[in-house]
Amino acid sequence: MINIAIDGPSGAGKSTVAKALAKELHFVYVDTGAMYRAIGLYVRNHGIAKDDTDAVIAALEHISVALDYAEDGSQLVLLNGVNVSAAIRENEISLYASTVSKIPAVRARLLTLQREMAASHNVIMDGRDIGTVVLPDAQLKVFLFASPEARADRRTKELLEKGQQVDYQTILAEINARDEQDRTRAVSPAIPADDAVMLDNSALDIAGTVAAIRGLLTERNLI
Ligand code: DC
Repeated sequence: MINIAIDGPSGAGKSTVAKALAKELHFVYVDTGAMYRAIGLYVRNHGIAKDDTDAVIAALEHISVALDYAEDGSQLVLLNGVNVSAAIRENEISLYASTVSKIPAVRARLLTLQREMAASHNVIMDGRDIGTVVLPDAQLKVFLFASPEARADRRTKELLEKGQQVDYQTILAEINARDEQDRTRAVSPAIPADDAVMLDNSALDIAGTVAAIRGLLTERNLI
C-alpha cells in the first residue's frame, strides 16, 4: 500500500490539497481531524466540559466513530451511525476537538481506526501526528504550513462563505491558541517528523501546493 502523510497546523490547506490529490491518484482520503471533531461534537452535544478529562474518557464508551465514502469519493464521518460531516465543521467544534485530542485514551481509540485504513488502502491521510505516530513508515511525509496571518485570512474567508459570522482578529487569535495547544501537548504533539518534507505554502495557491506534492511523489517514483 502507498501511504502519504500530510501534517501541519490548521488552515494550511491540508484537507483541500489532500482531497484533490486523492481524487487525482484514486487514493482514499482520510481526514483524521474530522474524527477528533466527531468526538468533540459528542462532548459538546452532551454538555460535557471539554477539559473534564474523566468525563470525556467515560463518554468514550458511548462513542463510535466511523468513516464512510460518498459516491464522489468524499469522506463522511459517522458518529454513532449518524452522518455528522457538516455539524463537525462548526467553528466552536475546533476547540473542542483540539482539547479532547490531548487525552491519550481519545488518541488511542482513533489510532486503531486510522492504521486499519492505511493497511488496507492506498491513502492520503492528513492530521497532526500522521508522519510521527500514525504512519511512521509512510512513503512520503509532508509538513504543510503557512504563516498564522495567511491561514487566518483563508479561514475567515472560508467561514464567511459558509455564512458563519466571524472576524479576522478573532480567527487569528483562535488559530494561535489552537496551534499552541496542539504543538505543546504531551502526547503526539503536532510537530514535523524528522523525515518530513517541509512545505511553506504562504505564497502558493491550492494548485501550486498540489503541484509541489505531485513533484515529490514523482521524484520518489510513487506515481
Ligand atoms: O485538522 P482539524 O483542524 O480538523 O483538527 C481538529 C483538531 O483535532 C486539531 O486542533 C487537533 C486535533 N487533531 C489531532 O490532534 N491529531 C490529528 N491527527 C488530527 C487532528
